[in-house]
Amino acid sequence: METRTRTFGTRGPVNPACNYVVPRTEEIADLGRRIKDGRYIVIFAPRQTGKTTFFRWALDTLDETYLPIQLDFEAYKNISQEEFYACLKEDIRQ
Ligand SMILES: Nc1ncnc2c1ncn2[C@@H]1O[C@H](COP(=O)(O)OP(=O)(O)OP(=O)(O)O)[C@@H](O)[C@H]1O
Ligand SMILES: [Mg+2]
Repeated sequence: METRTRTFGTRGPVNPACNYVVPRTEEIADLGRRIKDGRYIVIFAPRQTGKTTFFRWALDTLDETYLPIQLDFEAYKNISQEEFYACLKEDIRQ
């Protein structure tokens, strides 16, 4: 019978069934507690260290009373104030 071997993933979302993953269980629980406490959270870490994956996994643990909205402020650089608010409104609506 073929045994499925896991691999290290570096090119997109990782799946624990197929890839070796760092579960970050305690950090995810901590982020959930901070969100429920109404805290602002900033994550600083070097490129490609799992920030986006961590946020997505943490948001998946929240119940349906939360509505996560992903906004990419990098896309708003070099635009006027009017365009900024128009884009922000449209992105939140979407
Ligand atoms: N918990 C994890 N365990 C193992 N590998 C992971 C984990 N999280 C992310 N990775 C791997 O690292 C890669 C980068 O993850 P991710 O995009 O979440 O990092 P990032 O810090 O948001 O990157 P960027 O700085 O480019 O925004 C993923 O494509 C995946 O292959
Ligand atoms: Mg990222």
